[in-house]
Amino acid sequence: MKGVVLAGGLGSRLRPLTSVTNKHLLPVYDRPMIYYPIQTLVNADITDIMIVTGGNSAGDFLKLLGNGKAFGLKHLNYTYQEGEGGIAEALSLVEHFAAGEPVCVVLGDNIIEGNITGAVRAYRSLGGGAKIILKKVPDPHRFGVPELDGPRVVRIEEKPGSPKSEFAVIGIYMYDNNVYDIIRTLEPSGRGELEITDVNNAYIDRDEMSWEELNGWWTDAGTFESLLHASNLVAETGANKVEPSLAAEVSGNA
Ligand code: DAU
Repeated sequence: MKGVVLAGGLGSRLRPLTSVTNKHLLPVYDRPMIYYPIQTLVNADITDIMIVTGGNSAGDFLKLLGNGKAFGLKHLNYTYQEGEGGIAEALSLVEHFAAGEPVCVVLGDNIIEGNITGAVRAYRSLGGGAKIILKKVPDPHRFGVPELDGPRVVRIEEKPGSPKSEFAVIGIYMYDNNVYDIIRTLEPSGRGELEITDVNNAYIDRDEMSWEELNGWWTDAGTFESLLHASNLVAETGANKVEPSLAAEVSGNA
């Protein structure tokens, strides 16, 4: 499975912080924001990673990350998204990199306390389709929100006025190689973007969507409030922790 970090977009909700630099290079407590999603993939043993950048300061990603030595990687791949055509458009740029393999996609402003090892393992055992990760939040209207029927996702609504559950669809997704054909069928939404929620609903329509609930906290960091909240959470409790039981299991398999 290959890894993808989506760090394009213009970060307009964080202006003027993002007027001359890229949102994903801003600090979240003691690290640049982009460190967290990369670590999320590496902790799940996904080490062949493409970073999709865009907007301002794209060259600074290379200066900061190089070949990924800070994460124990030998190499990182980079590509550039022109404009802000949406999360699904950014994902479409990795088709050649994925080369038929499934991908685990992490949004560049998503930070988690724990790890996704269990969800990745569960997805691998399915042999295809898509998996989303859900977290109960006090403000679901800010996110993609699923309507659930037991283990089944019935539908996902993007930023609904009347959310059909207390869950947010967090910005970590797993897809098989059909995702690029699905993206080619999408039309831009009201905000002019190819929406990842439309991709997920296409998998639901095919009956190929599954979900997991995340352990530990999750936050995005794309608004002033959530950026501050993310820094405080990381300062207070730390992020990307590998649970001792999982660490033992991973090293035992090595
Ligand atoms: O954080 C989780 C939420 O992320 C989900 O619950 C929503 O369903 C999903 O649509 C998304 O919502 P946002 O409106 O918060 O996404 P935003 O536009 O802030 O983009 C999140 C990241 O995606 C951003 O940090 C970089 C990447 N991105 C975004 C756009 C619009 C790109 O790489 N290219 C883009 O064109």
